[in-house]
Amino acid sequence: MARFVPVAQAGEIPVGTGRVVDADGIEVAVFNVDGVFHALENACASGGPIGEGTLRGFVVTCPWDGDTYDVRTGVSPASDAIFVKHFPVRVGRDGTISVQPEPTDDEDL
Ligand code: FES
Repeated sequence: MARFVPVAQAGEIPVGTGRVVDADGIEVAVFNVDGVFHALENACASGGPIGEGTLRGFVVTCPWDGDTYDVRTGVSPASDAIFVKHFPVRVGRDGTISVQPEPTDDEDL
């Protein structure tokens, strides 16, 4: 199983925003929804930077062509056929956000 990789400090990603980080060479989009962090692979269908998209509630909109993803699962609210990998996230007592850059199984739900 892949290990958790420190990628950012909680204070660096304000509520309602996302950020692109590097986790062992994998581009990851980390989002802060009301103080809870979620991580997706930063790779939209045509390569768009999901982490630079607009976050509304649990849904982020890709800045390129407007595809949407639920940050809790990586699955698009528009279609189960559209999804990106979703990664486990931990936040340490010191505010360090760590991501496990390995796909979870719930993206096919
Ligand atoms: S690359 Fe994200 S919607 Fe096209």
